[in-house]
Amino acid sequence: MTNKMWGGRFGSQPDPIMEEINASIDFDRHLYRQDIAASKAHAAMLGQTAIISAQDAKRIAHGLDTILSEIEAGTFSFKRALEDIHMNVESRLAELIGPAAGRLHTARSRNDQVATDFRLWVRDAIDRIDTALAVYQRALAEKALDHAATVMPGFTHLQTAQPVTFGHHLLAYVEMAARDRGRFADARARLNESPLGAAALAGTSFPIDRAMSAKALGFTRPMANSLDAVADRDFVLETLSACAITALHLSRFAEEIVIWSSPFSGLVRLSDKFSTGSSIMPQKRNPDAAELVRAKAGRIVGALTALLVVMKGLPLAYQKDMQEDKEGAIDALSTLSLSIAAMTGMVRDLEPDVARMRQAAGEGYATATDLADWLTQTLKLPFREAHHLTGRLVAKAAAAGLALDKLPLAAMQEVEPRITKAVFGVLSVENSVKSRAVFGGTAPKNVRTQAKRWFKRLQNKA
Ligand code: ARG
Repeated sequence: MTNKMWGGRFGSQPDPIMEEINASIDFDRHLYRQDIAASKAHAAMLGQTAIISAQDAKRIAHGLDTILSEIEAGTFSFKRALEDIHMNVESRLAELIGPAAGRLHTARSRNDQVATDFRLWVRDAIDRIDTALAVYQRALAEKALDHAATVMPGFTHLQTAQPVTFGHHLLAYVEMAARDRGRFADARARLNESPLGAAALAGTSFPIDRAMSAKALGFTRPMANSLDAVADRDFVLETLSACAITALHLSRFAEEIVIWSSPFSGLVRLSDKFSTGSSIMPQKRNPDAAELVRAKAGRIVGALTALLVVMKGLPLAYQKDMQEDKEGAIDALSTLSLSIAAMTGMVRDLEPDVARMRQAAGEGYATATDLADWLTQTLKLPFREAHHLTGRLVAKAAAAGLALDKLPLAAMQEVEPRITKAVFGVLSVENSVKSRAVFGGTAPKNVRTQAKRWFKRLQNKA
């Protein structure tokens, strides 16, 4: 038997390999809900515009509802021979309602159908990601407020640089997640136009109402160019690019968790819930979830790269190449959801070792910049000169095997006689972070203000 949907001019059935390379049902079955919703909107519009009878429109709608419940109940049998979700649904519709099913495809092609379905699917996926990111942000802001005054070493080049507060560090990721959400929101706004009615590529001669089906599906308007409507997948690329950047942000935090939880640094303790043991070394607590979030960024970036390469150089309009847009995107979006959920769980359970953090914050002459600032402000020295003097003071302390705040005043005065004991006020890590009260700085007071600002923002629109 040749294909029921398009086999009119074919004499024999496809080779099994042809079927295998051609079929997309194994992955586009994820689009069943959107496919049925779009078909219902299309059929209703065809009925309203009297292109098909009201009775047929009603039969089609009922049949589609039945199919939806069959799929959700797991009783629907998906067939590879029917290639994709569109033809699986339509073929079942014919079994259920007979010849009226054949009227559903009036003024429509699989080309505008798949573009519509996938826009709807991506839109739903973006909404789920946005909610998950808001939950992640809240977990971070809560932990940040708990640790507004917990001092830890801040790093540049992964070398101890200056003391920062743990809360401030966590809030950095809240800001990144906010921009990630902004990128998803931008992609969503741009993708939210309806390709339905573009038909195969040129539009249709039937007097359809594209605005009506667009509105029914929550699109802001029908797309203005039929070729563009069926031929572009920039909406997938934009979404994948937002996914890739989000995944990179998560991977950086995951890497920090790996470093912080290593016994080398011992800055945080991961909960049992997000650690695993070793089958040979009984003492081990491995940060597997963090490592996997770090790694999964590779898959997500890979999906973006793969689709960029698929789309490059494709002439207008629809080309079958574009069927390759789905597997990677579906995988990337579910991988990202899982990564966000895992990071949220780890953040909630993360226990900083406050004493160890404080100790590490003071190691490596982390308050040397505070000393240079003090010399600049108190002795009115140019900062470069103060920097040089501080370098000499650090060298002196290092030679004596002392921390900066343990170097005796007399020893400091050998380097710069005008130094007074007031200098000790700026050499502690607590005073260091407290003094960085400039907007955006690490001071505990700022962390509290910012964490509370985030609670309010997340309450209003998350
Ligand atoms: N499964 C196809 C895809 O995902 C649907 C569109 C097929 N269109 C066609 N003209 N063969 O791209």
